Amino acid sequence: MADKDNTQEAADYGIGIPVKRHPFFLKGLDHVDWGMKDRLSRIFNPKSGNTVMLAFDHGYIMGPTSGLERMDMTITPLIEYADCIMCTRGALRSIVPPTSNKPVSLRYSAGTTVLTDLNDECILDIEDAIRVNASALAVMVAVGSKYEAKTIENLVVTADLGFKYGIPSLGVTAVGKELTRDARYLSLACRVCAENGATFVKTYFCETGFEKVTASCPVPIVIAGGKKLPEDKALEFAYLAIQQGASGVDMGRNVFQAEHPVAMIQAIRAVVHERCKPKEAFDLYRQLSSTKTS
Ligand code: 5RP
Repeated sequence: MADKDNTQEAADYGIGIPVKRHPFFLKGLDHVDWGMKDRLSRIFNPKSGNTVMLAFDHGYIMGPTSGLERMDMTITPLIEYADCIMCTRGALRSIVPPTSNKPVSLRYSAGTTVLTDLNDECILDIEDAIRVNASALAVMVAVGSKYEAKTIENLVVTADLGFKYGIPSLGVTAVGKELTRDARYLSLACRVCAENGATFVKTYFCETGFEKVTASCPVPIVIAGGKKLPEDKALEFAYLAIQQGASGVDMGRNVFQAEHPVAMIQAIRAVVHERCKPKEAFDLYRQLSSTKTS
């Protein structure tokens, strides 16, 4: 009720006390807008500064990948352990319960499949991304391929829309037979994404020089998992990636194709958020695997 009379006089102006400032916890993102910071703080844990994203967007280029034949059965039980999910709008609407209330990194570019020539992509309509309450817009960027210019244009348009509506854009350094995955290539590709407006970047880990990839990218990097590895090896490379400057993982096959996916995502969380050593994380994996819901 707006009262003019008999109100308590305002007296506590904190004269002389500087206004409290809140430096943002993610690198390179001090100057993005409030809505974007709010969404980023849902994707990345402000305490650890890192994220465990669960990727299950493979179907848009690969069809019913092993482990994703029935996403309602295999993915739904994993969602509660992820900080953010990365999927297509098709998967989102068909199998993700809206009540799970997880931030969504929406697969925002789409195009050719493994049957033809990857990376000839377009982007979706921003209205649909807003309609599903996307927290990030993930766009493939195929630096060095014949679709380089097209995919960079997709990123530029997405970043512009993202800045307009406060939605972070995720530049995904592309997969493709002709694209190498060494530090030189990955540094170039990640840097190109960041310079063209990506709010954060998804790329692959490489065994030599990965710290140069993260150091030379002015915004946070999350790593994809790649092909399925034995669980102890996947935990080891997640650990190395975090040690070498990655701000998290955006993993798919090494989680949902693991023998015990629920145990695996929890072991990954221990590495990413608690910097648990790979051996301890693997012990945790084995221990959790022996429980019923692993
Ligand atoms: C493809 C993607 C996938 O989401 C990504 O490859 C993650 O899955 P995986 O860990 O299985 O590689 O972005 O471009």
